[in-house]
Amino acid sequence: MRHSASPAPVRLTVRAASSLYTVEIAAGLSRTLAATLDTAKLPPRRFIVSSPTVWRLHGERFRTASAEEPILIPDGERFKTLATAGRVYDGLVKAQADRGCALIAIGGGVIGDMAGFAAATFLRGIPVAQVPTTLLAQVDSAIGGKTGVNHPLGKNLIGAYHQPSVVIVDPELLATLPRREFRAGLYEVVKYGVIASRRLFERIDAELTPLFARESASLIPVIAESCGIKARVVAEDERESGPRRVLNFGHTAGHALEAITRYRRFRHGEAVAYGMLAAAEIAFARGVLPAADLDALRALIVKMGPLPPIADLETSQVLEAVARDKKIVEGTLHYVLPAAIGRTIIAADVTGGELGEALRRMGLR
Ligand SMILES: NC(=O)c1ccc[n+]([C@@H]2O[C@H](COP(=O)([O-])OP(=O)(O)OC[C@H]3O[C@@H](n4cnc5c(N)ncnc54)[C@H](O)[C@@H]3O)[C@@H](O)[C@H]2O)c1
Ligand SMILES: [Zn+2]
Repeated sequence: MRHSASPAPVRLTVRAASSLYTVEIAAGLSRTLAATLDTAKLPPRRFIVSSPTVWRLHGERFRTASAEEPILIPDGERFKTLATAGRVYDGLVKAQADRGCALIAIGGGVIGDMAGFAAATFLRGIPVAQVPTTLLAQVDSAIGGKTGVNHPLGKNLIGAYHQPSVVIVDPELLATLPRREFRAGLYEVVKYGVIASRRLFERIDAELTPLFARESASLIPVIAESCGIKARVVAEDERESGPRRVLNFGHTAGHALEAITRYRRFRHGEAVAYGMLAAAEIAFARGVLPAADLDALRALIVKMGPLPPIADLETSQVLEAVARDKKIVEGTLHYVLPAAIGRTIIAADVTGGELGEALRRMGLR
């Protein structure tokens, strides 16, 4: 079998206020996990936290990473609860884990957030290594130290900041990811392009076919640039008081779309795709974003593939959900708007009327 040459491994450093760690990106890296964890000085007694799905697909390659029985917990969004996180504590207590232990989170964002939260709280904090297995987790959730679980009344209401000791990104793990999950993650990559890098945006556009074919040579530069943008923003603003807000680009309307469809219709990234379009429509209507850039964003999103329908959704419902999201301050919204592909501004005075218009132009009722 012929293998195309893989690009060189990438190492990024995240300088968060509370700690410093690396993000290691290379094809096949998950096969030598133990060595990478040793280099990162993770304590030698390590417990893997993963899901039955991920373990069935990839457990074999991780067998040598830990001598302990893996702790497997379910990973659908509806299992992202305190009760499920509690099963991690159960496994640790049963194995008489002490402060000299560490967790290895192997899975998508749900596993990463729950295992990270368990690590943040077990014995008031033990180290965790993140080994993300979805594109979304590789470019977003595994970096930055936000951990947590959902409450029946709202997403991510319970959590803690707990930076990982190391993040290990192996694009080979994405080979088994369903196409829709992969695409959902790719919208977050488009987000990074729009907020910070026209080059990244254009690369996605030019390399959609090899990206969807999960070719490491295409994935590595795209993942690396995304992680670099996230790492830079986290370094500036670990606790999301200012600059980290640009990462919310596309998320105001996006979260509202997810909420009004009870988190059933859209994958998170799909809702963000619509949210980015809404923000771009507002920016264009304000004369902030050139028509060519609005068109480029629209064209790329269309080219990436189908999105769930929105024509049956009411604009007023979205506006109500945005208001509930507490982002409306005295009648206006703080909104991250694109000023070009690769640059955003924060507008403090976007009105519900403007957002409503944008949504109607996109086809909502
Ligand atoms: N902490 C943060 O900063 C942050 C940022 C963004 C999102 N998140 C959180 O991330 C979560 C979403 O993460 P997600 O999109 O990765 O979803 P997920 O963890 O639910 O994974 C999606 C699906 O893919 C499956 N899967 C995972 N890896 C696979 C693989 N390699 N092959 C085949 N199937 C695989 C999982 O079993 C699951 O069914 C949300 O809970 C969100 O709140 C957190
Ligand atoms: Zn997101």
